[in-house]
Amino acid sequence: MAYPFQITSMEQYEKAYRESIDNPDQYWSSVAEHFHWRKKWDRVLDWNFIEPKIEWFGGGKLNITENCIDRHLETMGDKPAIIWEPNHPDERTRIVTYNRLHKRVCQFAQVLKNNGVKKGDRVCIYMGMVPELAYAVLGCARIGAIHSVIFGGFSAQSIADRLEDAKAEYIVTCDGAYRGGKDIPLKSVIDDALMGNKVVKRVIVYTRTRTPVSMIKGRDVWWEDEMEHAEAQVERENVVSMPATEMDAEDPLFILYTSGSTGKPKGVVHSCAGYMIWATYTFVNVFQYKPGEIHFCTADVGWITGHSYIIYGPLCAGATSLMFEGIPTYPDAGRFWDIVDKHKVNFLYTAPTAIRSLMGFGLDPLKGKDLSSLKKLGTVGEPINEEAWHWYDENVGNKKCPIVDTWWQTETGGVLISNLAGVTPSRPGWATLPLPGVLPKLVDEQGKEVVEKDENGLLKGNLCIAAPWPGIIRTTYGDHERCRVNYFATYENLYFTGDGALKDENGFYRITGRVDDVLNVSGHRIGTAEVENAINMHAGVVESAVVGYAHEIKGQGIYAYVIFNGHKKDDDMTRKDILATVSRIIGPIAKPDKIQFVPGLPKTRSGKIMRRILRKIAEGETSNLGDVSTLLDPGVVEEIRAGKV
Ligand code: WT7
Repeated sequence: MAYPFQITSMEQYEKAYRESIDNPDQYWSSVAEHFHWRKKWDRVLDWNFIEPKIEWFGGGKLNITENCIDRHLETMGDKPAIIWEPNHPDERTRIVTYNRLHKRVCQFAQVLKNNGVKKGDRVCIYMGMVPELAYAVLGCARIGAIHSVIFGGFSAQSIADRLEDAKAEYIVTCDGAYRGGKDIPLKSVIDDALMGNKVVKRVIVYTRTRTPVSMIKGRDVWWEDEMEHAEAQVERENVVSMPATEMDAEDPLFILYTSGSTGKPKGVVHSCAGYMIWATYTFVNVFQYKPGEIHFCTADVGWITGHSYIIYGPLCAGATSLMFEGIPTYPDAGRFWDIVDKHKVNFLYTAPTAIRSLMGFGLDPLKGKDLSSLKKLGTVGEPINEEAWHWYDENVGNKKCPIVDTWWQTETGGVLISNLAGVTPSRPGWATLPLPGVLPKLVDEQGKEVVEKDENGLLKGNLCIAAPWPGIIRTTYGDHERCRVNYFATYENLYFTGDGALKDENGFYRITGRVDDVLNVSGHRIGTAEVENAINMHAGVVESAVVGYAHEIKGQGIYAYVIFNGHKKDDDMTRKDILATVSRIIGPIAKPDKIQFVPGLPKTRSGKIMRRILRKIAEGETSNLGDVSTLLDPGVVEEIRAGKV
């Protein structure tokens, strides 16, 4: 497959950027032409950021799976679409060709249909990283069901909340999932999430770990039985494949829940056509994919990175996507390097937190591993510190691989700001230039564009985007007003990212981190309010306040200040009980790294917690806490500072 929209020089980038801004309709139709449409669009773009209303390729009809699979079959049917690497290296690798992927996706789409799933229904997917997860996602897309993948680290309570919000009637899960030395009982977590749930009609369970599970009559069915049945049906009825359902360009493709500054995660909704084009366009341009290359994105499909750069982007581009079930440190810290060596990986895409954690094991795990197949490297999810960047460059890339630092969000569908591997310049710690179609603006608190440079000659402000790109969020599921308030109401006529950024004289951007109450822990997004709500569920907790602090490996750690008034066994036991509560309510990923018991919290006279002060104390700043005179009880600050853990 050739990519006529692939940018291969700095001059081409500049030209494409200019065209995309001056004449977006013309630019994006010339990209969209290279996809498979059942019916061509009537208008390229219709939008306002007031409601907001964003429609790309209105009137167009398509199915994303025909773009991901069917259109490749004639020329690439025997080429690997997915190479699956198991958790443990002793287990066999699985190679899924495009032909096989087509067969399995159609078969699973039939299974969904047989179980009553219709276009527009919500299907919650809670699985480990097995190829069947890709079949489930694409099977939904095939028949126009809206998938909502939930990361395997979320608790039963989190799943229950998401099921309720999405009003999901169907679940696809596994008996269990292998992750490193752990065996996570996914089905059992689902059973807990379904206590009292009267909406879910069917749970389809794929066998991975052979963990005993309880199968409830009339509700739970085995994946294997259903697939067998579908296969027999296909043979009997002599149906060649499950036809793809024709979708409107703006029909929702999926929901993915993500944290914000309120206590409740929101369901980010992406559309069929715009998302497809953005995921594919950015995949081909940022990573500079060349036919035949092996693409290895280490993310989990439970996050947007896995949606866009393990499944949709690579498959739409006819690429070979490597899917890894396990973790970087199992059975040892050389696992990534073994995989690169074994499968001759050409592009490796991972999070700075993984790089920092692997740095901690020194160079031994790299010894004897042939990494010469690597041509390009990438990072995603959080700012990368220069030390980690250089370690990656020297020891993994052998100083010959361009590194792309890709800035984006669940809401953006794909990369917005990044260098293009080997095509536009890189700079350690900087995401650099916006992709074509992306119009970043740095604004001050009032929403005025920042024009005044700081003492280092840099512009500094809150990062907004001034016009829609095809992959932008369309709504938050079931609550459009929430979408407006969250992203489009802070500053008039701008999409607000929640991030702060710097801009240099070359127009390069450096993301400095969140400016709202959202934490980024090991590249995972967690709202402080969510963690506080979970802590407050513990019977003895009166009140809590959560802030982030710089953490050597995780990027940010979670620091919780807790007013405790219950029965305290001792501080350590009570801390463990609070951690268990947070695990139960959200999941282990949200467990605080530090808990400090405090007699009170610094509040203004109107009752607002002064997080600025708590952040400074958590960071270890002992002097210069700023003005505390407006506090209700300034004395509490001294006590908190004295008790820092
Ligand atoms: C937040 C979005 C993008 C997929 C994974 C995370 C931070 C993301 C970078 C980067 C600095 C980054 C931002 C953003 N972030 N990429 N290259 N440099 N920060 O998706 O969970 O939606 O989180 O991650 O703060 O707002 P997400």
